[in-house]
Parts: sequence; structure tokens; C-alpha cells
Amino acid sequence: MLSRFFSRLRQSRCEATNLPFLAANVLKVRNLDCLKKAMKWTESPNIEYEYLKEFEFLTDLNDRRIRDAEVLGAVCCNGNPKTLLEIGTSYGRATALMAQNASQGIVYTVNIPPEDISEGGKYVTFAPRIEEIGKYYRERKCTNVKQIFVNTKNWIPDLGLIDVAFIDGCHDADYVYNDTIKILANTRPGSVIMWHDFSPELVNVYDWISSVCEGVERLYADGFIKGKILHLVDSWIGLYIVPKDLIK
Ligand SMILES: C[S@@+](CC[C@H](N)C(=O)[O-])C[C@H]1O[C@@H](n2cnc3c(N)ncnc32)[C@H](O)[C@@H]1O
Repeated sequence: MLSRFFSRLRQSRCEATNLPFLAANVLKVRNLDCLKKAMKWTESPNIEYEYLKEFEFLTDLNDRRIRDAEVLGAVCCNGNPKTLLEIGTSYGRATALMAQNASQGIVYTVNIPPEDISEGGKYVTFAPRIEEIGKYYRERKCTNVKQIFVNTKNWIPDLGLIDVAFIDGCHDADYVYNDTIKILANTRPGSVIMWHDFSPELVNVYDWISSVCEGVERLYADGFIKGKILHLVDSWIGLYIVPKDLIK
């Protein structure tokens, strides 16, 4: 009886979203403590940033900014990551969070040059001016950051092994798919990949979230990723650990 209920529930999620791999692999995590237990992390992140408390848009509902910062910060302050990559610098808020929570590492942050934006994809949620890109982390004097201006469509990562990657550039499924494959080729077992604007329950609400989830679904379907994705409730981040028998 119970198993029939769960099987129906899973089936209805798959039909509703048409994302069967995500329906079968995304695990919701209730709070940061549960995430720390699941990951065997001991450290809590420093997320003392005023902007995290602000509510500007409906997309900030349910303390989404804080939940995102908890995931991103916790990944960076545990496991001693040395090489961290952010795709999509924007103002550099997440860059600062990563740099300050992984002060022993270097954060490489990539953004398309504004003049090339028309050659980028469709779901570009924000297109800052050149002087705005990275402004926030520079104002906070983060010295362990290296900024790269390139359209990821034309970029092959050359940073050595990447310990942590935060993918938050163009949200088209093709970009999410290709950015991830290029990163996977430069990871090791245990490397962490995070996708932003990832939230299976919001795929029918926001088209760019649907697009990101479609990109991740294709990574499963084509065998580039396998195993679970952790998703902290109310965050917009999917967290994936590259498994031992990583597929490239
Ligand atoms: C949503 S914002 C990133 C926000 C930032 N990660 C944060 O949390 O503070 C997306 C950024 O990706 C950049 N972007 C869009 N398409 C890109 C591409 N093809 N290659 C590199 N960067 C891109 C945009 O210019 C924009 O600054």
C-alpha cells in the first residue's frame, strides 16, 4: 500500500516535470545542520553579509539568499579546497563569499565580457557593465580571486584540478550542460559541483530554472553524472559530489 503510494508520488513528479533522473536522484535537505551531517562537515560558514537579509524580489522568498549562502559557504569552508571556480561573476557577491570562506584557496571567477553578451545564450538573468563585474569582492579586498573575462562557450578551463565549482553563468540548458562537462573533465573524486537556479519544485514557475534543471537532467541521461544531488530546502542550489568512478 505504502510502496504503491510512493511509486505513484514519484511517477506524478516525473510526469509533472518530465525530469525522471532528477525525480529519482534529488534529495531534499532540511537545514544546514542536516547538510553538514550528510557531508561529514565540521565547519559552519561565515555568512555575515547584509545583502543576504534583504528582500528585493519574489525570487528572494523564504530566505533564499541565506539558504544559498549556507550551501555555498559550507562547501568552501570545509574540505580545504585550493582551486575554486565560479562561472558568472556578476557583482562578485558569491565570489566574496567563496573567497572569504576558502581563504587558503584561489577563486577563479569567469564572466562573459559585456560586449559579447549578444553571443551568449537566452537565459541570462543579469548583464552587468564591465566596471560592475566583480565590484563587490574588490571592495571587500579579497586578494585570493582571479577574474577571467570570457564567454564559457569558447572557454576550456586550464586551472588544474578543480575542487569546487559554482555554475551560475548562462542558464540555458546547453550552457549548463557544456559548462558542467568541461568542469567534470578537470575534477577529481570528491570535487563538488554546484548549479545555481536549480530547484526541481520551481520548474513550472520560472523558465530559467526549468532550463537549468533540463541541463542537469541531460547530464544524467548522457551518463556524465550519476548518484545523488543534495538540495537544501528553499535554496536554489543543487550540490553534486564527483564520485570515485567518475565518468568523463
Ligand atoms: C546570475 S549572474 C551571477 C551571480 C553571481 N554568481 C552571484 O551569485 O553573485 C550571471 C552572470 O553570468 C554572466 N554570464 C552570462 N552568460 C555567460 C557566459 N556565456 N559566459 C560567462 N558568463 C556569463 C552574466 O554576465 C552575469 O554576470
